[in-house]
Order: sequence, then structure tokens, then C-alpha cells
Amino acid sequence: MHDEIKKLLITEKTLSEDVINQIGNIDIDEFSEIVKELGEKETQHIKSSEISKELQTAYIGKKLYVYDEVSSTNTIAKFLSMQNDENGTVIISEKQTLGKGRTGKDWESPLGGIWLSIIIKPNVDQSKFPLITLATGVAVAKALEKIGVENPEIKWPNDIMIKGKKVCGILTESVAILDKIENVIIGVGIDANLESSKFPDELQKITTTLKDELGKECDEHLLIKTFLEEFELINELFNREDYEAILKEWRKRSYSIGKTVEVRKPFDTPFDAYIIGINEEGALIVEKIDGTLEKVISGECIIKN
Ligand code: BTN
Repeated sequence: MHDEIKKLLITEKTLSEDVINQIGNIDIDEFSEIVKELGEKETQHIKSSEISKELQTAYIGKKLYVYDEVSSTNTIAKFLSMQNDENGTVIISEKQTLGKGRTGKDWESPLGGIWLSIIIKPNVDQSKFPLITLATGVAVAKALEKIGVENPEIKWPNDIMIKGKKVCGILTESVAILDKIENVIIGVGIDANLESSKFPDELQKITTTLKDELGKECDEHLLIKTFLEEFELINELFNREDYEAILKEWRKRSYSIGKTVEVRKPFDTPFDAYIIGINEEGALIVEKIDGTLEKVISGECIIKN
């Protein structure tokens, strides 16, 4: 097996190291064909034909693999991207058994949600990658607006909120091949046709679903199709390096700007601050209690009342 694929299987923890070593002789091209064939089979709830029908994109979602169940669509996307799958390939699953959230958290992914990943091969400097997550947030928000959700907002860096509750999360990962970043995997999880009353109590306070907000089931196929179209439009701005246009759309829908928060940066002591805005790298600019300004490139901001 190619070493890079072996590394992927180990880091994704989908299989134990023992099993990975035992299947070491598998023909990876053959394996990849099996993965693709499975993704081309008809699924019960999410139909690739319904999404492809009238999909107005040039390359996003033109290759579409839909599964009934996978560990994580991001893992499949990473694997396929290493097998040179095309820019814009989309992987969707009706359920995920090992859905991944940010900061190593699990992501519950039962039937009824939209769990998808997009493979893109951007030709820009790595320092611009945070912007692709922001751009994805804008594409989700615009798609929600188009299906009738009122005022979806984006909480930095990547949560989509409705009336202050999270409805969608985005996990962007990059795939380095021989230490060079080649592919970016954008994972999007939308709590679409789920009922938040079935979520654990502590989650009900902070999350919502489209079904709850719209008061009826949403058309998942239409939402996926609309999102892929919006994503391609904004990805084109990203490719043309028109970052200001992306930031303008993001700022218009910002849930974060103007809020007082606790900033939790990786490996740093948390501190309180007021969010002033977002800069051209996609970093938050916050004002600390002592009046100094600070840039936050990664981490979390917990809104304070
Ligand atoms: C977050 O923590 O807010 C990010 C959640 C991202 C979830 C999506 S669902 C599709 C894709 N596959 C995963 O395993 N995670 C992302």
C-alpha cells in the first residue's frame, strides 16, 4: 500500500494499525475503484440524480459520490483526493459513524442531516486557506436564504447560526502529499431534517435544525444543489484572489462582530475581548480589556452575555 494512504488510515483511526498492516498488500487503485463504485450506487434518501438534475455548476459536484453510511465524508474525500480525484468532487453520506467536528470533537451525523465534503485544489498560498472556510460559510448562508431561512448568520470562524443557535458546522482539512499541500477538503454538516427536541438537553440550548426553524421538512436535494452552486461562485472569487468580495459578503452576515467574547486560542490562556472585525486574512481583530488589539487566526470565541 502507498505509504501516504497508510498514514491517512492511521491518522483517521478508521482501522486499527494491525488491520492496516494486514491489508498492506491491497491494490490501492482497485480499492479506490470499489470506493467510487459504492458511491455511484443508488441510495435510499439522498439521490445523486436529484442533485445533478439542473445543477448549474461547471465543476463543483460534477463528480458526485453518495453513500448510505461512511465513517466520515472528509476521510473518503481525503482518500479520493490522494487518488487524484478531480477538483470539485463532492462526497455525501446519509449517515456518518465517525463524523468529525472541529478541535477533535465528534460530530453526530444521523439520517436526516446533510453531511458532505468537497475536494478542491486551490492554486493559492496556504496562508489564504482560512478564507476558504469563511467563503464556505457565506455559500451555506446564501443557500439557506434561498430556501427561505430568514437571516442566517455566520459565527467566526465557521458556524452558521439561526436566531443565535448553530445549524451548521464546517471542518476544513488540507491534504499534504509528500509534505506539499495539494488538496483542501471542505466538510459541511447541516442539521437539516432532524428534530432538536431529540438532542441532549445541553445541546438543545445551543443548536437548532432547519426542520425546527422552517416548521416543515426542507428539500435536501434543493438545498445541496443550491449550496454547490453558491459554493462554486464564491470559490471562483477565491481563485481570482478577490478576497475583499468574500469578506464583504461575510461581514454582511456576521454574528460575531460587535460581540463580547472569551477568546480561546490554541496553547494560550483564554481572555475576554470585544470583536471589532475581520481582516484580509480572515483573522478576527479583537480589542482586549486593556484596550490593546489582537489578531485571532485560529481558536474559538465563546459569546458572553
Ligand atoms: C464543527 O465542529 O462545527 C464542524 C463540523 C463539521 C461536520 C462535517 S459533516 C461532513 C464532514 N465530515 C465530517 O466528518 N465532518 C464534516
